[in-house]
Amino acid sequence: MSVNKEVKRVTTHVLLEMKRKGEKIAMLTAYDFSMARIIDHAGIDIILVGDSASNVMAGHQTTLPITLDQMIYHASSVIRGINRALVVVDLPFGSYQGNSKEALNSAIKIMKESGAHAVKLEGGREVKESIERILTAGIPVMGHLGLTPQSIYKFGTYTVRAKEEYEAELLIEDAIILEKSGCFAIVLEKIPASLAQKVAKQLTIPVIGIGAGGGVDGQVLVLHDMLGITNEFSPRFLRRYLNLFDDITKAVGNYVKDVKSNDFPNSGEQY
Ligand code: KIV
Repeated sequence: MSVNKEVKRVTTHVLLEMKRKGEKIAMLTAYDFSMARIIDHAGIDIILVGDSASNVMAGHQTTLPITLDQMIYHASSVIRGINRALVVVDLPFGSYQGNSKEALNSAIKIMKESGAHAVKLEGGREVKESIERILTAGIPVMGHLGLTPQSIYKFGTYTVRAKEEYEAELLIEDAIILEKSGCFAIVLEKIPASLAQKVAKQLTIPVIGIGAGGGVDGQVLVLHDMLGITNEFSPRFLRRYLNLFDDITKAVGNYVKDVKSNDFPNSGEQY
């Protein structure tokens, strides 16, 4: 019997056990009650209330504009929809980079006001003190290395990270620092598959990849991308399971046609 099937609630300990037994971890983003309810029902292990909400829910170009209160709104909606998954919430840009006290306060506010189970933040050695301080309040922390979208203006592009030897070494060092600081898992975004596999082998905590190959302990995708709601974003790592942009366009087109032609509502669809 898999660890995943046995548990009523996914916890950070369950995830560690899954890694230990070589059972892959499935993670997706969600930002609202209805989607969270469906993906929890479908058996997802971790739901990330990602700051990608800034892009896919609010239409911004980057993740930078979303606020702490907006993240809490999304997270509390997700929490009302789930029974089983572990819910992790991104600390948004500007809510933790100032100092570790600010990071702790932001993490506490998320946990208190949304009911979420853990937080995620981007960065390596530069956020070590913040991770340790958040952990003193008993709040589990997930790390995030590789492509870190909150630093997009520092790097200038969304291309694959850590391709050079020295960058790869720095990333491995950072991953070890995150594990030693107490992170329960880390996300590796858009890095070479061989490097991600090396990190996953070296760490005892789960390593979840996005665009980081199959040699890691689990995978995460942005829900709107894998469902094909976003149709203009097609990186190589993305597998689309549906094409909802086209399906919804067709359904709404049919509705418009039916209303305008007086086909809807028919006699059986009224009182
Ligand atoms: O915000 C987000 O959706 C993320 C994932 C891409 C890991 O951080």
